[in-house]
Amino acid sequence: MARIVAVANQKGGVGKTTTAINLAASVASRGHRVLLVDFDPQGNASSGVGYTRDKVERSIYDALTGDATLAEVIRPTDIDTLFVAPATTDLVGAEIELISADSRERYLADALATVADQYEYIVIDCPPSLGLLTLNALVAADGVLVPMQAEYFALEGLSALTSTIDKVKAAYNPRLQIDGVLFTMFDARLSVANQVRAEVEKFFGEKVFGENIPRNVRLSEAPSHGKPVLLYDLRCAGTNSYLAVADEFLERELKYGLASAASRDAGAQP
Ligand SMILES: Nc1ncnc2c1ncn2[C@@H]1O[C@H](COP(=O)(O)OP(=O)(O)OP(=O)(O)O)[C@@H](O)[C@H]1O
Ligand SMILES: [Mg+2]
Repeated sequence: MARIVAVANQKGGVGKTTTAINLAASVASRGHRVLLVDFDPQGNASSGVGYTRDKVERSIYDALTGDATLAEVIRPTDIDTLFVAPATTDLVGAEIELISADSRERYLADALATVADQYEYIVIDCPPSLGLLTLNALVAADGVLVPMQAEYFALEGLSALTSTIDKVKAAYNPRLQIDGVLFTMFDARLSVANQVRAEVEKFFGEKVFGENIPRNVRLSEAPSHGKPVLLYDLRCAGTNSYLAVADEFLERELKYGLASAASRDAGAQP
């Protein structure tokens, strides 16, 4: 069974999508089978791996409404072991339509359950809100990865997210936990950045990734070419830092016993 990670932060523009694409691609490049789920109507994770609106026939919305199975929605990418369930603006409709549905918080979890045995990791890119879509992602997930920028007030936003996570854990999903906090667009020369990092570490301890993602223009260019950064520029700082984060992520999976059954089995083979 796949381990499911939601990349979430209700604050906009903090690097959720960049992290979802490049963590998924980096983990996949290490030989793991990974499904990237675009769960944001903006569709940026989809276009970032080559599925612009015109190339999406069936989207995650169709899997939620039952018009298609999730398996029919999933598409391959330029990386052999990376797959994507694309989203389009249709997904805005789901937020409204699901409001009156029974078990409206479980639609994504139910859809992912139909494919979970085929992947080692499933990475969900969440929209910038704590609405019904993010709730569905948190109910489906085993862990949450929180990308954040090292700015003043960042901690205030984090407390809204952690209280939502606590509520989801209590009401719907007891296994949910924070897998990690990742600093994005980090500039180590700024004292504010280091101060904020130190504050967040006081609160989250070793959940904060040791690797910070620097601001790197290649990371912002790659999506317009429909590529994860490691296929766009293998040697740039953005590629190196996301590969380092992926390795840290995989190490933690082993260390904390979080490894999915599939990767445990793979590791046990001679
Ligand atoms: N490390 C980085 N270096 C340079 N640019 C970055 C970096 N990370 C993200 N960006 C750019 O910052 C912008 C916001 O990033 P991204 O789309 O990943 O954030 P987001 O949290 O998904 O946004 P939203 O809340 O709208 O979904 C994008 O233009 C992206 O290319
Ligand atoms: Mg995004």
